[in-house]
Amino acid sequence: MPTVLQAYETEILVGGAHPTKLIPGNIAMRKDFVWKKESVVNTFLKDVRGGIPFAVEQIDVMLRVLRSSGKPVKRFLDLGCGSGVLAGAVLSAYPKAKGTLIDFSEPMLNEAMRGLKAFPRRLRFVQADLNSKEWLKEIGREAPFDAAVSGLAIHHLTDRRKKSLYGEIFSVLKPGGVFVNIEHVSSPSERLRVLSDETFIDSIWEFQREKGGRMTRAQMEKKFYSMHDKGSNILSSVEAQCGWLRRIGFADADCHFKIFEIAVFSGRRPD
Ligand SMILES: C[S@@+](CC[C@H](N)C(=O)[O-])C[C@H]1O[C@@H](n2cnc3c(N)ncnc32)[C@H](O)[C@@H]1O
Repeated sequence: MPTVLQAYETEILVGGAHPTKLIPGNIAMRKDFVWKKESVVNTFLKDVRGGIPFAVEQIDVMLRVLRSSGKPVKRFLDLGCGSGVLAGAVLSAYPKAKGTLIDFSEPMLNEAMRGLKAFPRRLRFVQADLNSKEWLKEIGREAPFDAAVSGLAIHHLTDRRKKSLYGEIFSVLKPGGVFVNIEHVSSPSERLRVLSDETFIDSIWEFQREKGGRMTRAQMEKKFYSMHDKGSNILSSVEAQCGWLRRIGFADADCHFKIFEIAVFSGRRPD
């Protein structure tokens, strides 16, 4: 049973792929709230983020898509920013860019503030929950944006909420603005899910060995399957998600890179 980190009175989420039910008065238990725990944040940042397979290539693809708009990024959003890996890449690529970084996890935002100190006066950190459109109220003054990026965050929302969020992102982009999502997506079969997990475990195992760790492959596998954030994943196929982007009105919605369950896909708000 996951720990209840915070209770909402109006909404109950009971796991599974489409679990949103409104039960007034009930206490909600949201699996994504594990991200508010310091221990989950520390494990992700210390043992996982740097070992994600082809993470460098994914960020390179993201930057290529941003560059393809032909205009410099002046204002951007990072949704579910975590420690700010994606925002850092955008800030480095565009020395005049200003970022609005959103996350609901205090320990993650603290890490982002610490890690992005090299970019003073170019950042605004917003603690907000992407599970409702309330986040839009927090960024009103800064919109519209030239770009929105997100990394491995939106898959914590239900499919219904993902679609709404994609629409909200569309609404705050300038004409010509792009949205790039580096995301954990679903596998079409159990065989490919296992292949994805095996690749992921190999990659984080290699990462810890490079850092001088002594864990065996078997120990890493055990650790991988016991990570506390796993229950918060609500994976959807990249095909479905590109389809949602097209229906919302995004142009050029496509998947540009995919290594099993990690995909980079984007869409552009038409001029
Ligand atoms: C796997 S981490 C990825 C962090 C970062 N984007 C990266 O690429 O390293 C997922 C992030 O999404 C955030 N997150 C998950 N659900 C969220 C929600 N409903 N609202 C805001 N942030 C959320 C978590 O706090 C966490 O920082």
